[in-house]
Amino acid sequence: MKIIIAKNYQAMSKLAADLVIRELKEKRQTTLGLPTGSTPLGLYKNLAKACLGEKISFKEVKTFNLDEYAGLAKTDGSSYHSFMQNKLFNFIDIKAKNIFFPDGQAKNLRQAGAKYDSLIKKHHGLDLLILGIGLNGHIGFNEPGSDFNSKTRIVSLKEQTRRANAKYFAKAEDMPRQAITMGLATIMKARKIILLAAGAKKSAMVKQALTGKITKSAPASILQNHKNLTVILENKAAKDLMAVKPHNY
Ligand code: F6R
Repeated sequence: MKIIIAKNYQAMSKLAADLVIRELKEKRQTTLGLPTGSTPLGLYKNLAKACLGEKISFKEVKTFNLDEYAGLAKTDGSSYHSFMQNKLFNFIDIKAKNIFFPDGQAKNLRQAGAKYDSLIKKHHGLDLLILGIGLNGHIGFNEPGSDFNSKTRIVSLKEQTRRANAKYFAKAEDMPRQAITMGLATIMKARKIILLAAGAKKSAMVKQALTGKITKSAPASILQNHKNLTVILENKAAKDLMAVKPHNY
């Protein structure tokens, strides 16, 4: 694992964007895995800028989002489809047919999970997956207790996660109780992973996930076993980690 500590959020976002830009320059047909949330917003701005400046193109890129709420229409302003459209896809030259999400509206959500995993496989797997981390150590919507062998599936959201994400809904009670998420096994199959974390609130979990025991109670801890993981932390999110001075910086 490589850990980079950035001096602030802008620097974290720029470093992450540089890695994605490098990947896209090396392979025009990159298959990217993408998160929503507040953490990647700066990264997405940088990518949009690089695309506008014709430094990179997404014309041959395929994207697979990590998760989507169950039961929300794609067009719902709070769906992850809308989020990605408004924060990234509207500003880059990606083709609509190359954008994929797990189907939160499928009649059979179990089948939808398996279908998403086969779709990723059909596209030869994820070259690069970007992740954020939840306050409780979730990645995607793999909440504490998720099986390390889990595939894309329907999950129930923990109260802490619902509280953290309520800001994206007009009324807190509008927030769905379930989502469909790439599983931990699906995530671990990505050839490269970049984990981003910003803000002091994430600091304790970042330390636990990266240096503590690999345990289902902190799902992100499984990333310690990934062969090509780069962690980019805003310095506030690295506070606790720096205090223990792990040897592998
Ligand atoms: C979102 C996702 C989540 C977020 C995590 C952090 O698609 O998969 O795991 O990455 O909840 O969210 P923010 O960045 O809002 O703190």
